[in-house]
Amino acid sequence: MASLSDQEIEQLAIAAVDARGRAYAPYSHFDVGAAILTNDGQLISGCNVENASFSLAICAERVAASAAVAAGYREWKAVAIASAGGVAPCGACRQFLAEFGLDLAIILVNLNDGSRRVCLLSQLLPDSFGGADLPS
Ligand code: THU
Repeated sequence: MASLSDQEIEQLAIAAVDARGRAYAPYSHFDVGAAILTNDGQLISGCNVENASFSLAICAERVAASAAVAAGYREWKAVAIASAGGVAPCGACRQFLAEFGLDLAIILVNLNDGSRRVCLLSQLLPDSFGGADLPS
């Protein structure tokens, strides 16, 4: 895992919690915030955005990842995800994040008890499918 300092973990956790405060989750009432640290030190965040047509909900991780790409940052060091319970990203988000590299540190911030768990995307998505599996 690319080394992450305690300061970076703290900075990411704060940004994810802050983003969670902007979650739009009137249906599930499960607010999630995500913050990505790019390789060149930018912090880009996202929150979940739900819709009355339930299946259109977008997870915080995919909002943050899309915002990072749209801002011109495709190389990421870590992503922090803040929620009650410190949940790990859903399968769709694991795949979405993997597009930009499996060597991504994932920091799960549990707002229930303040704990954090750090792991790698490659651990959460073994035997992943990616662009290299497609014919050239
Ligand atoms: N959600 C996220 O934003 N990220 C996760 O890692 C898990 C789930 C959102 C999607 C939906 O708005 C709500 O949480 C309940 O599933």
